Amino acid sequence: MPRYDLSGQIALVTGAASGIGRATALALAEAGAAVVVNHRGPADSPVDVVDEIRRRGGTAVAESADVSNEAAVQAMFARVIERFGTLHILVNNAGLQRDAPTDQLSLADWRTVLDVNLTGQFLCARAAIREFLRRGVERERSPAAGKIVCISSVHEHIPWAGHANYAASKGGVKLLVQTLAQEFAGRRIRVNGIAPGAVRTPINRAAWESDAALTDLLTLVPYGRIGAPDDIAKAVLWLASDDSDYVTGTTLIVDGGMSLYPGFGEGGG
Ligand code: BGC
Repeated sequence: MPRYDLSGQIALVTGAASGIGRATALALAEAGAAVVVNHRGPADSPVDVVDEIRRRGGTAVAESADVSNEAAVQAMFARVIERFGTLHILVNNAGLQRDAPTDQLSLADWRTVLDVNLTGQFLCARAAIREFLRRGVERERSPAAGKIVCISSVHEHIPWAGHANYAASKGGVKLLVQTLAQEFAGRRIRVNGIAPGAVRTPINRAAWESDAALTDLLTLVPYGRIGAPDDIAKAVLWLASDDSDYVTGTTLIVDGGMSLYPGFGEGGG
């Protein structure tokens, strides 16, 4: 893991009980940040993440809140600010899929995905921005008043048949990132996204757990391997650190080349 110094900073990672969120929480703690490990509820307890961070000498607390619930998000941010005094880094990671061909996609599944993946990112970003604006820049800590990293997907730009709700939510995240970045750059708040490709996490287990599925998946990945959660965590660290202080409103694609139209590598049309 690269050595970034985030000591004295408070970071909140949503959906951090597993996958990319878990790896990101561990990486931020390794860099010295105190980490709030958000999870949805009792069914996805992050106790092992919190224990692991504490065992390595870091600071971590678990905070349960459904990111799509306005009151729950506000209460979580209030508890975090009461406990730590402020917040410096938000990683908007919580997300899910409810896949179906669109002619069979229920309104409930459409709404659940938009609510968690897009509205959840808005609600958490809004709460973080309010705190960043209240506190302002503390020069000794960071030239930015706050940093927000939104975990999007290659499906913010690659259409995905059978996943209209998911692709629409991630397309929304792309313009949420750019708009927030534009709106708050003058207040020294940086907002960036990361667009992961296929990463070995619970959300896409079916795509990697059998050899046949993995072989099929890898035809879409020019770099020839599936991503690891740490591949994304390392990019988050950079975007959360002052090494990227002049970067705002961008989405970093971390996908082993999945976005490069691999079919055209063989000549195409
Ligand atoms: C999805 C995964 C998928 C990957 C590449 C991600 O955003 O959550 O299920 O494997 O994109 O298609």
